[in-house]
Amino acid sequence: MDQFRVGIIGATGMVGQRFISLLKDHPWFKVNCVAASARSAGKTYREAVGDRWAFDWPIPENVAEMTVMDASDIDSIGQKVDFVFCAVDMKKDEIRALEENYAKHEIPVISNNSACRGLNDVPMVVPEINAAHLEVIDTQRKRLGSRYGFIAVKPNCSIQSYVPALTPLLDFAPEKVSVCTYQAISGAGKTFRTWPEMVDNVIPYIGGEDEKSEQEPLKLWGHLEDGENGKVIVNAASPVISAQCLRVACSDGHMAAVSVSFGKKVTKEQILERWNSYETEAQRLELPSAPKPFLQYFDDPSRPQTKLDRDFQNGFGVSIGRLREDKIFDWRFVCLSHNTIRGAAGGGILTAELLARKGYLKAKK
Ligand SMILES: NC(=O)c1ccc[n+]([C@@H]2O[C@H](COP(=O)([O-])OP(=O)(O)OC[C@H]3O[C@@H](n4cnc5c(N)ncnc54)[C@H](OP(=O)(O)O)[C@@H]3O)[C@@H](O)[C@H]2O)c1
Repeated sequence: MDQFRVGIIGATGMVGQRFISLLKDHPWFKVNCVAASARSAGKTYREAVGDRWAFDWPIPENVAEMTVMDASDIDSIGQKVDFVFCAVDMKKDEIRALEENYAKHEIPVISNNSACRGLNDVPMVVPEINAAHLEVIDTQRKRLGSRYGFIAVKPNCSIQSYVPALTPLLDFAPEKVSVCTYQAISGAGKTFRTWPEMVDNVIPYIGGEDEKSEQEPLKLWGHLEDGENGKVIVNAASPVISAQCLRVACSDGHMAAVSVSFGKKVTKEQILERWNSYETEAQRLELPSAPKPFLQYFDDPSRPQTKLDRDFQNGFGVSIGRLREDKIFDWRFVCLSHNTIRGAAGGGILTAELLARKGYLKAKK
């Protein structure tokens, strides 16, 4: 595989810091540019991050002394990179304009932001679930007038515990899903130091999160149809999902408690067999970050636990437990994923690995 020069837009933020940490020894991708707002531009990365560095390991040496660039300086950034990861805290319309501008400048964008997730020619990818959706990139390129540039996005972190658990069960026709998520504070870009009000607390509201958690799974489970310019994604019509998303006093890791009813009868043994044998293209292609296995099930009813299990498969795997009959629905269970690894930066890296393997990313010589 070629070596790719990578830029991180929003490098000083929580997700950006995670990208920098995860890419330290990546076999294909080398960080060659860090960018953020005009506030950070011109400083070294170490200075720009200052005391916001969220981890107990040091800033990787290859990045610490890099000069942070202004994310809007697309021409200069384009000289340094083959593609960028993007995770910025800006208004939605500004993010969409920024990302489309990169794509039109022939710089592919793998985005953690929600601004372009609703577009039917922008693939929203979890490689283990809907790798086939990459096909819509050709349609998107026609809309943007780009030859090579495009945007691929990741779904919201909240759905990445329960959608992987439900996907192997789709042929049992899930009809109704009720989910309650228990989401860590790093999902808001915070630590207990920067958000002391969260110590010993639960906040029952995360703006926009219930809606994303109900709608985004339907795009992941959507199918491809011919549109005016080529293939587009058509969302799945079912199941109906009802979500309540709570912020809880955990540093990392999003837990979800799920109840589900199915159109077809399904036994506990069948569900467990599906979870235990779930293998996908990401594993078959031997993508460097693909977890093997992707899913683990605990018989111990006290697991998964956020603190003990969020780092399963270096944070790329999903843990499930407590599968049992439900008095209102058919089955219920709990599941857990690492929100800034599987749910954000790590999922972005895995998506980029898939894009590289499938020839959508090219290293400029
Ligand atoms: N945290 C998670 O678990 C998670 C999971 C999935 C998706 N996301 C999404 O990822 C994105 C970033 O989240 P985060 O938690 O990393 O946020 P964050 O910690 O607040 O970081 C925000 C980043 O955006 C940059 N930024 C702000 N205004 C900018 C501008 N005008 N131009 C360029 N860069 C600008 C900041 O740079 P400065 O330092 O210069 O201000 C910083 O690098 C959001 O869209 C979020 O919804 C987050």
